[in-house]
Amino acid sequence: MRITMIGSGYVGLVSGACFADFGHAVCCVDKDAGKIDALHAGRMPIYEPGLDQLVASNVAAGRLTFTTDLASGVAGADAVFIAVGTPSRRGDGHADLSYVYAATEEIARAATGPLVVVTKSTVPVGTGDRVEQILRDTRPDIEFAVVSNPEFLREGAAIGDFKRPDRIVIGTDDERAREVMREIYRPLYLGESPILFTGRRTSELTKYAANAFLATKITFINEIANLCEAVGADVKDVARGIGLDNRIGRKFLHAGPGYGGSCFPKDTLALLKTAEDFDTPVHVVEAVVKVNDVRKRAMGRKVVAALGADPRGRTVAVLGLTFKPNTDDMRDAPSIAIVQSLIDAGVTVKAYDPEGMDAAKGVMPASLVYCGDPYEAADGADAVAIVTEWDAFRALDLARLKRTMKAPVLVDLRNIYERQDAERAGFSYTAIGR
Ligand code: UDX
Repeated sequence: MRITMIGSGYVGLVSGACFADFGHAVCCVDKDAGKIDALHAGRMPIYEPGLDQLVASNVAAGRLTFTTDLASGVAGADAVFIAVGTPSRRGDGHADLSYVYAATEEIARAATGPLVVVTKSTVPVGTGDRVEQILRDTRPDIEFAVVSNPEFLREGAAIGDFKRPDRIVIGTDDERAREVMREIYRPLYLGESPILFTGRRTSELTKYAANAFLATKITFINEIANLCEAVGADVKDVARGIGLDNRIGRKFLHAGPGYGGSCFPKDTLALLKTAEDFDTPVHVVEAVVKVNDVRKRAMGRKVVAALGADPRGRTVAVLGLTFKPNTDDMRDAPSIAIVQSLIDAGVTVKAYDPEGMDAAKGVMPASLVYCGDPYEAADGADAVAIVTEWDAFRALDLARLKRTMKAPVLVDLRNIYERQDAERAGFSYTAIGR
């Protein structure tokens, strides 16, 4: 199959490289010439484990190409995937679909024959209808079929998620498009990943429902963690105790500082907007959004509280800035609210993150001090706060850490240490829900 990917960001690049690895001929398009130049030079515009090797081997095999010229990419393609951003629109929380519609118009103008157009970007219900309308209005001479095919990739594990998905969801009523999609994903469903054919609106909503459910699961366990702290219970054991029930499941029950990232915050908000538009409230998701927002700031206060008396003039070392490990992504990271509330309380904040410090510089308060490793960050600090559970923080030399600190206080917002180990090393230890 000849596949064109419009948008070579996180989703487009990972999906494009994986499709090429299946043996398809893939052309990744992006308007950003800097990004395409970097890809031609073998440099990845994002950090994702394994992506550089995957791209290199498929470029070498001649199956993966990059261009800024959308028209040349679209000409002769069997399927064109739209994988451009759908950020929250400033002011109202609706998904901003301007990039999707602009790409649609360009695809229509460039089409040379019957074409399957697939929205991979996360788009609100009904977007496929509008995409189809634009295609038909722009090029009444060409036969288009529009498909919804949401991605369920986790950053940091995206290649594995793409190649071994729990399921593939394909939303279309068009039989020919279904065949094209079946052919594109053949290597996966032959590998026994279930492929689910649905209507287009159902597929669009499935993506939002999945993310909202996962965000709800996390928020639920975070509130149970608060309750655990109040009543003297252990949230890790509660999570295990409920998670072993197959109906609940063990995943996404890790209590922490609140969810962040490029998907959950934006998609939960967009779902609320859709619900509002259709006059059908989803109160559970409304509560999730509110609780998660409040939680991020509360985590800052938790660190301040661990400092004891007056926080002013004290120093806190923040370990981990990205919204989760194995990514350099800072979008909606809980660390942003945490660092801000520490600074508001008069605390000097030093930080270390293995991959996220460059991105952090664009979003963090200017007074944040960046350090070269955890021990440098902890040097002279009154507390260390673990905000992101990078593997590099799981086996810190606590004795060495303590020697460099002014006061041995450890606030573990990801529960990656055991209280007895931290206390044995001489730390005053604060966890989440334990
Ligand atoms: C998510 C979805 O998992 C993916 O299917 C979708 O396509 C895009 O959004 P991602 O944003 O990469 O992927 O991150 P994910 O691993 O899901 O974590 C999201 C946030 O939830 C992170 O801030 C993470 O720290 C937090 N989280 C996750 C918890 O606090 N506890 C958990 O148990 C799991």
